[in-house]
Amino acid sequence: MKIALLTSGGDAPGMNAAIRAVVRRAGYYGLTVYGIERGFAGLLNGEGFRPLNHRSVADIIHRGGTILRTARAPEFCRASVQDQAAAWLREQGIEALIVIGGDGSFRGGAALQERGLRFIGIPATIDNDIYGTDLTIGFDTAVNTAADAINRLRDTATSHERVFVIEVMGRCAGFIALASGLAGGAESILVPEMEFNLEEICRRLLAAKEHGRSHSIIVVAEGAASAMKMGEEIKKRTGLETRVTILGHLQRGGTPTAADRILATQMGAAAVDLLRRGENGVMVGYVKGRIEPVPLAEVFSGEKTFPAEAYELAHILSLY
Ligand code: F6P
Repeated sequence: MKIALLTSGGDAPGMNAAIRAVVRRAGYYGLTVYGIERGFAGLLNGEGFRPLNHRSVADIIHRGGTILRTARAPEFCRASVQDQAAAWLREQGIEALIVIGGDGSFRGGAALQERGLRFIGIPATIDNDIYGTDLTIGFDTAVNTAADAINRLRDTATSHERVFVIEVMGRCAGFIALASGLAGGAESILVPEMEFNLEEICRRLLAAKEHGRSHSIIVVAEGAASAMKMGEEIKKRTGLETRVTILGHLQRGGTPTAADRILATQMGAAAVDLLRRGENGVMVGYVKGRIEPVPLAEVFSGEKTFPAEAYELAHILSLY
């Protein structure tokens, strides 16, 4: 069986560990993996198409980013483009495709499956917003990066007695904001999934000051509100000295944590095992501590539930 492998969508720390595991597990069984560069965009012109072997994936387990590079390929939504890619893969003798990416990338894979290829998805996005898996590759690293930034900002916030509004990634999901805010002891966490009241936040900031707390940390998911506007509003309404930090793409890079490397390694190996078992059209999920296949139909059928209890806990712990 000839397998093609690509990474797609936003990069996530741990993608390289997953690539390594796919290639080496496949090699162990005598299967050949062909890498494709720049995600689905690379499928249209065969960019970087080459066999990967044990040596090609040496010394990458600890590196962020992806050696296969990645891209967002909106043109891949068009049926004619999907036809072209499926035909090209068939010409190369490829029978199966493994995609490391988010659910948008899995839709591209599903389109190729409809055109006769076998497809397995490995969930990787720092946002952790894929339905059907408790964890995605890259989330743990991004949360640790954000929590570390919060620690550093807290040092300067306490020294100068300031309010810090810290914007983390998550256009549609607040999982990074919640986890890093909980880990960093944030006074307020704003996420797209939960309503918030700026007046109430300002009232709490002033109450905290009255009780002797001279600094505060507010973590905002980028999809919840503009941190710049929040900072300005807070300053205007409370008179407290306020600063804004946008962490941005810092959260996407860096050495993957051990947890992400282990998850990626297990998921990469499982993708090959699933192909050997004859599975098709599934995502490798991490469900209640176990790696297991999740049908794509299920992955596309819902939205991950936001852990409202943990959100409430963060709120309670920061109350005065
Ligand atoms: O990959 C997920 C993500 O990092 C989101 O959190 C963020 O909103 C988006 O990608 C940014 O995308 P880009 O790098 O294409 O600007």
